[in-house]
Amino acid sequence: VSETSVSEAPAAQRIHAAIIIGAGYGGLGAGAQLTRRGIDDFIILERANDIGGVWRDNTYPGAACDTQAIVYCYTFFPHLNVGRMFAGGAELVEYLRALVARFDLQRRIALNTEVDGAEWIEELLAWRVTTASGEQHFSRVLIPAWGHLGVPSVPAVPGLESFTGTAFHSAVWDHTVDLTGKQVVSIGAAASAVQYVPHVAEQAEKLTVLQRSANYILPRNQKIFSEAEREEFREDPETFETLRREIHEMREAGFARVRHATGEQAIGVAEARAHLEAQVSDPELRQKLTPDYEFGCKRILRSDDYYPAVSRSNVDLVTEAISHVTEDAVVTIDGVEHAADVIIFGTGFRSQAFQGKTRIIGRNGVDLADRWGDAPQAYLGITVDGFPNMFLVYGPNTNLNHNSVVTMMEIQQEFIAETTTRIVSVDPIVFDAQPSVVSAYDDHVQNELEKSAYSSDCSSWYKNAAGRVVNNWYGTVEEYRRTVESARPEDFGLAPDPAMSVSS
Ligand SMILES: Cc1cc2nc3c(=O)[nH]c(=O)nc-3n(C[C@H](O)[C@H](O)[C@H](O)COP(=O)(O)OP(=O)(O)OC[C@H]3O[C@@H](n4cnc5c(N)ncnc54)[C@H](O)[C@@H]3O)c2cc1C
Ligand SMILES: NC(=O)c1ccc[n+]([C@@H]2O[C@H](COP(=O)([O-])OP(=O)(O)OC[C@H]3O[C@@H](n4cnc5c(N)ncnc54)[C@H](OP(=O)(O)O)[C@@H]3O)[C@@H](O)[C@H]2O)c1
Repeated sequence: VSETSVSEAPAAQRIHAAIIIGAGYGGLGAGAQLTRRGIDDFIILERANDIGGVWRDNTYPGAACDTQAIVYCYTFFPHLNVGRMFAGGAELVEYLRALVARFDLQRRIALNTEVDGAEWIEELLAWRVTTASGEQHFSRVLIPAWGHLGVPSVPAVPGLESFTGTAFHSAVWDHTVDLTGKQVVSIGAAASAVQYVPHVAEQAEKLTVLQRSANYILPRNQKIFSEAEREEFREDPETFETLRREIHEMREAGFARVRHATGEQAIGVAEARAHLEAQVSDPELRQKLTPDYEFGCKRILRSDDYYPAVSRSNVDLVTEAISHVTEDAVVTIDGVEHAADVIIFGTGFRSQAFQGKTRIIGRNGVDLADRWGDAPQAYLGITVDGFPNMFLVYGPNTNLNHNSVVTMMEIQQEFIAETTTRIVSVDPIVFDAQPSVVSAYDDHVQNELEKSAYSSDCSSWYKNAAGRVVNNWYGTVEEYRRTVESARPEDFGLAPDPAMSVSS
């Protein structure tokens, strides 16, 4: 991947077919899909010094995907070299490197290139994209693929500034810190923490896990693929696709677990309880680890080593709330001081700030941050009225709990690549979703979400402060596919060709 490819690009005023923001699964998959459709005039701008998105950033010990790798890859580029069913971050970055090579994306990617902002220029029917170094690039289509989980969240704990030890967030793990023999405090006990806690527990002299809410945890059952199995995938990719279909269908069936009061939800609770009871014998610890909210309200976790880790004699699971931090301890409201050489924040991400500080200005000078406020919405999770020819990958209300986000992104990328083909193949067309279509869609999504556990009473990154589910899709992946494929030209403001189909 070149660090200078865009500086070799033609003059800034040239209008590219598309500009993609971000080189994670979303942006790279979008680039591959454009390439597959013969669109080769696009660039991918990435603020970091490498590709990979969350899998580049989250290098904490044990970081892995808990969606099966067989479905956490694109159908047009199956992960035939798969090493583990629940692949580690490094393996997923390698998959993305192979995708970049396969679709010749290196020359299109500019690393260390943060997009500061983008503005729709009506006279040009184009987006003007400005980078942090002041470069400008123009494109017909803007494809933000900035993810949901790229901005770490560190709570403002009183006294933190007085702490003299080392503190870091799980997504920016400080690998220079040797945890051997140290007193470590983990704030947070969810998806990231259940993966790093078993590793930290083995190294630290003492590990205190501060848990605000317990989680439902199911067995993971890792599978490591043998060279013979990989060879079979490579020689006969249909065996891989058969497995993909089986896992996809199994996970789709699992969606019923995140709907209120279904039989499947009760089975999920029973499986999580059985896992807890099998792994934790101490009744007091079991009690602390038992969730007090609806199954599926937060992400359902998978781990085989977290419960054994918190059962170790050098690990304390503390459920009292945090009061403050001193120079060498985290103090809970019961007055107990938990000694700390190192504090690890496993406290998640600012997940509703999709665009972060990137300013996106649409028609009539409207700023996307103002348009969205704390309730981002988009038609199909892809387009926002007043932001013409802008198509989001993994936009609002497209995250999942039950299946692979990559499958959702592929559906979006197909729509985007098809629509981009339309936009650039004749005189420029402007796709701008009808405001009434966007608001009717959003009402429908929010109504459907009322039936789901995501909307029930628990703290989760799926919801904003007012309790509105901003991040998650309400149904199965196949329901989403049908919804996107049924989008019609008349849903958009300027559809010049009535015969045009916007779905693939
Ligand atoms: C630790 C972890 C585990 C996860 N596990 C699963 C799982 O098991 N199953 C699942 O389905 N999903 C999982 N997810 C969700 C994951 O976010 C998605 O699956 C997917 O990888 C998101 O890809 P993305 O490209 O949309 O976003 P990201 O991976 O966040 O990539 C966005 C990219 O955009 C770049 N960027 C952002 N803003 C700018 C800007 N202004 N200018 C330039 N570049 C910019 C970022 O640097 C980043 O590289 C997990 C997430 C995390 C954090
Ligand atoms: N594939 C995987 O296995 C995997 C691994 C890591 C991440 N992920 C993805 O990334 C998402 C984020 O995971 P995450 O674990 O990093 O973040 P998270 O799910 O948002 O969890 C944050 C944790 O920090 C706690 N917390 C937050 N603020 C706190 C405060 N002020 N005081 C005390 N505790 C506080 C939360 O408690 P409460 O629960 O009480 O809010 C929770 O335990 C996941 O849901 C998942 O989608 C997936």
